Amino acid sequence: MTTKPRILYTKPSITELEVAYATDAAANGWGDRCYEYIERFEAAFRMHLGVQYAIATSSCTGALHMGMAALGIGPGDEVILADTNWIATASPIVHLGATPVFVDILPDTWCLDPALVEAAITPRTKAIVAVHLYGNLCEMDQLLDIGRRHGVPVIEDAAEAIGSIYHGKRAGSMGAFGAFSFHGTKTLTTGEGGMFVTNDAELYERVLTLSNHGRARGQRKQFWPDMVGFKYKMSNIQAAIGCAQMERIDTLSKRKRDILLDYKLRLDKLKGVSMNPDSPAKVSGAWMPTIVFDMKTNITREILKSEFARNGIDARVFFWPLSSLQMFQAVPQNANAWSIPTRSVNLPSYHDLTSDDLDQVSEVILQLHRRYVL
Ligand SMILES: Cc1ncc(COP(=O)(O)O)c(C=O)c1O
Repeated sequence: MTTKPRILYTKPSITELEVAYATDAAANGWGDRCYEYIERFEAAFRMHLGVQYAIATSSCTGALHMGMAALGIGPGDEVILADTNWIATASPIVHLGATPVFVDILPDTWCLDPALVEAAITPRTKAIVAVHLYGNLCEMDQLLDIGRRHGVPVIEDAAEAIGSIYHGKRAGSMGAFGAFSFHGTKTLTTGEGGMFVTNDAELYERVLTLSNHGRARGQRKQFWPDMVGFKYKMSNIQAAIGCAQMERIDTLSKRKRDILLDYKLRLDKLKGVSMNPDSPAKVSGAWMPTIVFDMKTNITREILKSEFARNGIDARVFFWPLSSLQMFQAVPQNANAWSIPTRSVNLPSYHDLTSDDLDQVSEVILQLHRRYVL
């Protein structure tokens, strides 16, 4: 007897193309060809995003760390970000000796509330980090306007937002710099990996130098660092997988969106239920289709998780508020960031999810809804 495999919440889509490129890089990508796939991957990414500069990195965390260091963020500075985030957005701030300032999220996009960002600005504010959570888009016009008026750069953490488009501009291309993640859970993956992108030539040069252990491009002396830098490079083999994924990026992004739209068709109209927003002006990259139950439904994360578990379905919790973690000071006044995770989960959404799987996940939610709400 065969048992039905669990429905995972995520897994990558790897075809013969990725395998062929990785194999070629492993067999031949050395010596004169040791940067070939890295350069190709960076060029393809620049083109896709419509930005001038891109540096492939070992992770998004590394890209954020170097970008923040290049902006001069350091001890005594404050950086404003949403309380709802993966810790990867906050840790580079802490490593640089600065203080993360957590503000609340909007109830519908689960991204930074611009009014609260403005209220949190002090003379110490050195940057605002806009995280496009789960592929939802931040209010970029308002955030960029706040940044301009206060002379504070807006960084885009687009780790989760490949495929997201804000008024025709791709997520990650609008701020002082953008950072992407290619972790195995992401829409585009290289196993582990990331990308730093910017349109600022000076910032690019600084990050390029930092990324090469402080060795400047024009430095003729061999093995001569001009400053203390970082080692957050992507390997040629990872970049080879990235090149194949870039050739398939439209298919990969479309599949994510189709899954979100399919879930929305089935679930979004239910009383007391909301999902990732999506509109022609703010196109969601749909990295993590997410369901949020209104408090009045009495359906909690635990109830949904255990119902999923009984049905062989993986669910992923909505990010805990960072300010609830023991290493930070609690900010329970961030009511949305503290309340939404208690009544929401990310739904399975990998490329090869079948319509039977989608039916099964939706049916569990529909049954729960019937039991609790009708
Ligand atoms: C919002 C956000 N920022 C940063 C990161 C860090 O990405 P990486 O794991 O590539 O360092 C992640 C990872 O999932 C993320 O979700």
